[in-house]
Amino acid sequence: MLRKTLRLLGLALALALVAAACGSDTDETTTTAAGGGTEETTAPAATREVEVFSWWTGGGEAAGLEAMIEVFKQTDPDIEFINSAVAGGAGTNARAVLASRLQAGDPPDSWQGHAGQELIGTYVAADQIEPLNFLYEEMGWLDVMPETLIPLISKDDNIYSVPVNIHRANVLWANPTVLADNGIEMPTSLDEFFAALDTLQAAGMEAPLAMGEQWTTMHLFETIMLASMGPDGWDGLWNGTVAWDSPEVTTGLEAFAKTLTYTNSDASALSWQDAGQLVIDGSSAFNVMGDWQEGYFREIGSEPQTGYVWAPVPGTAGNFQFLSDSFVLAKNAPHRDEAIAWLKVAGSIEGQDAFNPVKGSIPARSDADRSLYGEYLLSAMDDWASNRVVGSLTHGVVANDSWKSEIDTAIGLFLLDGDVAAFQEALTAAAAASG
Ligand code: GAL
Repeated sequence: MLRKTLRLLGLALALALVAAACGSDTDETTTTAAGGGTEETTAPAATREVEVFSWWTGGGEAAGLEAMIEVFKQTDPDIEFINSAVAGGAGTNARAVLASRLQAGDPPDSWQGHAGQELIGTYVAADQIEPLNFLYEEMGWLDVMPETLIPLISKDDNIYSVPVNIHRANVLWANPTVLADNGIEMPTSLDEFFAALDTLQAAGMEAPLAMGEQWTTMHLFETIMLASMGPDGWDGLWNGTVAWDSPEVTTGLEAFAKTLTYTNSDASALSWQDAGQLVIDGSSAFNVMGDWQEGYFREIGSEPQTGYVWAPVPGTAGNFQFLSDSFVLAKNAPHRDEAIAWLKVAGSIEGQDAFNPVKGSIPARSDADRSLYGEYLLSAMDDWASNRVVGSLTHGVVANDSWKSEIDTAIGLFLLDGDVAAFQEALTAAAAASG
């Protein structure tokens, strides 16, 4: 009996020694013990981490990011993902924090930036990010990323970011029950829109168009200007072929001023999600917001067609006012290899097909699995492929940061005084100073 036990113990010891000799490929080191022999010790695994900065913290946005982080955890299980997201829609707060970190020489490894002037006029201009041509070559991304997007993330033949999505800015969201109860069809022109809003106000709805804090006012502004001026007029404001002091701008500003009369008086205290919630609750009938709003609606359990309906902002059908979230590689990134691993996931079909159905955006890549996307996003994919594409102001495509911030100041003043002529002068001056 004793002999049998010893034999078993011996066998167990032998197995343990074999296992130790094979070792693990991670964290075992061999050190020389004081007595001159050797012993096995276990050191902590080398820290591999990547710090990624964004403003996706809540309402529909965080869930999308989490879905992409899950893919990253599978492809790179040994890299810890440090999520440095800073709350606040459209990155208003986050971008201020990022700017001070960059100024202090303390960049996150990778951050969210919008394709277009935000990327080129800010981070590239300040030499804060690395070109990524090597990744595009290695991953074959030029074959799958939209041709329209590449020039917006490039300068002097260098490509500077990895787009994860395409969002549409010019979407009108509505509560179908409120519309039906008031005999209203989804409006297709600004005149029909104003008529619908009048009907609702006459029926006692004080603020039929829900709006949030100031950046959502700029968002409304860009879509109404597109509706009023058309795509050539809108593009002309940014490429210099349309003067900001022209009569067609005055007409657009008047339409914008009229639109604001239908909005809620507590707008400045509300987030974009709060404004969307007013539509779902039926306190307002409409909200103009990018299609991240659908990510939020779905997150709170609302259903397309019964909970909410959508259409291009009245007067903008056939135009896709777009923006694209992309990720960059910091110059002197503290964890460069790990940041590259993250960017590979951000640019991959697996990453994009995990992120976008939840986020409420369509993938930047053209080879998405359509079966993963809901009814709204499928319609957005079709429109992206067939519509005229124009850029968003609020979300970084058409103007650099300094121009955009002057426009923002002008909008802030206009919200206080409602003076269209003064507003147009301020916008004209902003274009002269920064355009
Ligand atoms: C945009 C961004 C979207 C969404 C939105 C609201 O600027 O591109 O992805 O996050 O802000 O926060």
